[in-house]
Order: sequence, then C-alpha cells, then structure tokens
Amino acid sequence: MDVENVRQNDDKLSSSPPDRPKLMHGGNYIKEGRDSAKSTWLLFSAESPDQAGCLAKFLGIFSSHGVNLSHIESRSSARRPGYEFMVECEHGVGDFGSALDELKKNVGYLNIISRNYKDNRSAVPWFPRRIRDLDRFANQILSYGAELDSDHPGFTDPEYRARRKYFADIAYNYKHGQPLPHVDYTKEETATWGIVFKKLTELYPTHACNEHNHVFPLLIENCGYREDNIPQLEDVSNFLKDCTGFTLRPVAGLLSSRDFLAGLAFRVFHSTQYIRHHSRPLYTPEPDVCHELLGHAPLFADPAFAQFSQEIGLASLGAPDDYIERLATCFWFTVEFGLCRQEGKLKAFGAGLLSSFGELQYSLSGKPELREFEPEVTGEEKYPITEYQPVYFVANSFEDAKEKMIKYAQTIPRDFGVRYNPYTQSIDILDSAKQARDMLRGIHQDMELLLNTMEKL
Ligand SMILES: [Fe+2]
Repeated sequence: MDVENVRQNDDKLSSSPPDRPKLMHGGNYIKEGRDSAKSTWLLFSAESPDQAGCLAKFLGIFSSHGVNLSHIESRSSARRPGYEFMVECEHGVGDFGSALDELKKNVGYLNIISRNYKDNRSAVPWFPRRIRDLDRFANQILSYGAELDSDHPGFTDPEYRARRKYFADIAYNYKHGQPLPHVDYTKEETATWGIVFKKLTELYPTHACNEHNHVFPLLIENCGYREDNIPQLEDVSNFLKDCTGFTLRPVAGLLSSRDFLAGLAFRVFHSTQYIRHHSRPLYTPEPDVCHELLGHAPLFADPAFAQFSQEIGLASLGAPDDYIERLATCFWFTVEFGLCRQEGKLKAFGAGLLSSFGELQYSLSGKPELREFEPEVTGEEKYPITEYQPVYFVANSFEDAKEKMIKYAQTIPRDFGVRYNPYTQSIDILDSAKQARDMLRGIHQDMELLLNTMEKL
C-alpha cells in the first residue's frame, strides 16, 4: 500500500490499512528470542545458619561435576538467619543435573530460576532480579533492528538501512547506568517527525485522556517536544524519572513478551530510537520514536498509570507461559490500545492510538465495539496486529485498572510473591514467613506515620 492510499484511508477513517505501528504481540519489540543465555540461576542457603565453610562445600559440588559458574554472590538472607547464595551455572559444560541433585540434599532452601524451565519442572522461568540484569536482554533479541522485511518502506533504501543499523548498534551496546545515547537526527528525519507531530497534536485536546493532555505541555517545556525537533531519549527518560521513577532504555530488536514485560517491573520501558521511513510519514510497520515519545512517554509520567504498568510487569515475573500471553494481551488492550471514560466522554490512553492519526479518530468514532476492561476476560481476547482493532476495552480509571490487575495477578500460579525494592532496584522474592513478618512490620511503621500525620492535620 503506498503512502497516498494510507493518507486517504486516514481521511476516511477506514479500518484498513492502518497508519499505526504493526505492533508485535504484547505491544512492542516482542517475539520469542534466540535465547543465547543457556544458564540457570540457583538461590540457596545452608540447612543451619552456623554451617562454617558451607560456601566452599557448595562450590565443591559444582566443581566435582564439572559445572562452570559464571556468577557467585552471597548476601545476608531475608528468609532465615545466616547467608544466602546465588550462583549462575552455565549449561553445556559438566553434569548440571547431578550437581543439582547433590545440592538439593545439602541445602535448606533452594530456588531454581532458569531460561530452560521447560526441561526442569521444579524451575521457575528466568526473570531479572536486578535492574542491571536487563542488560542481558540485548543478547536475547530475535530480529535485529536493522533487519527489514521486504515490504518495509525503507527496504530498498541503503541510506535508511545503514541508519537503522546505526540505531540498532548503539542500543545493542547500551548498558544500564550509562547515559542514553544522544542522536543527531537528520533534516529528513526531523521533517518526518514534524509531520506526525503536527497531525497528532491537532487531535490530542479532543481525543487524548486528561493525563496525556496534562503532561504533554510539560514535555514541550522540558524535553524539547517541538515540530522541528525530535526529543532525545535521555531528556525524556530523566523527566519521567523525576515524575514516577520510570526510565527508558534503548532496544536493539525484538524482545520476548516475557522479557519486555519484565522491564516494566523495574519501571523500565524499552524504547526504539529510530524513526519511520520518510516516504510514508503516517505509516510504520513497527514501533518507532514517534510511537514511543508521542504515545507512550506522556502516560509514564502519570503516577497511577506508571503503577498500573508496573503491576503488569510484576505479575509476569516467573509466571507460566500461558499467563505471559494473557498479561501481554492485557498490555495490548490497555497500554497500547486502551480507552477510558472521563467526564462522561470516551478518551484514548493507549500509545498505539495516541501515535496514530487514523486509529485515534476511528477508536472514538462510535464504530468499533467497546467492552469493559476485565483482565481475566480481556486477557483471552484475540486481536489483529495489522489493522485497526475491532474491539477496544474501556477502563474506568487507571486506579481501577490497577486494582483489577493486582487481583488478577493473585490468580497466577506462582509459589512466591514478588515485590520491587526501589532502594536496591531489585526484585524481592517473597516465599517465607520471616519476609511476611518483616513486611507487616514495615506496614505497621507506615500506619503509625500515617496516624501521626493525621493527628497533626
Ligand atoms: Fe508500544
């Protein structure tokens, strides 16, 4: 389909083909990856806290079975007195199964977290425990950002392809903690952004939700959102961090649904940095910087929306595959294509809508079917990725959607709870009475602070 037809379709609010990104399942850079990380994480502690030299004994087990450890960590245990150990075992060298069997006989606590969880029924699907573990995703992408399909508008443009490789390379080499790469966009790229920016900002006052309209002027003021300027990810990420703790990180290619959602648990959003091909400014077959910065970024500055997004991420950690699919579908119908009711009117908050001039109008035109957002029902819905959605789900508010997601997460079969620890930027795995008691103590202290504050008011 050429650009004229796309524009025509936009004008007529036709449902095919759309001008919005052909988002992969779950909303963004998502597919099952090559999974180069053939390793298993083991968390364990000794049977009794006073077992002197127990780490040497445990390490001896791996050594005797020829298993390589690429990471060894010890810390004071949150579950029981004494220390807890975390090791990463490489696969393919030595007899990992026998080492694991022997370890099981010698430890008091053991948790197995593995990419190869399908081969080991007692293993939990791998998930990042610390924010820097997100660096591992770069090695697990499927399609590198420079690989374009033959029907991509930039497929036969060598300059565009070289540019895409440039963006993929800087994302691939990015590591947590580094400044986000600054990009000098070309005049052509900026002009493309300008066309999209102008068209969409005409619609936002009437079509976007209050939260988007509240934040957008702040992005203009603080992050260089202008028709003649493509904002830098670093500036937007710093702005979001100040608002809600959300940050952006560049992504080099397609992530699995599991990995993409896991990033949200840390309030990290994987973002593209390249822009669509200039020949079709109102069409892109995949997410690009217009989609991320115009559609997603404003909402991540809203505290309730940020928390809702994080709840989806937390729910995904260690969840079985079928629940990952349901959570990715919930993400699709909310963060990507969600509608909400505000002052008796329907408004859009999904980034797939807020970055598509055509579908943003279509979604609120009264033509598509609307249903209430209920995670257990919404998560089962099938959807097309190359045309406008036939059905949209409507949330009463982000707070309401968040409460529903929390309740839904409780139905996911997991032997443990998870909590994000913002001080250490890591995930606490909750699976002991001691942790529950410590949490209760924390809540008790918060209650006392609350009561004390109320007495002063
Ligand atoms: Fe998206």
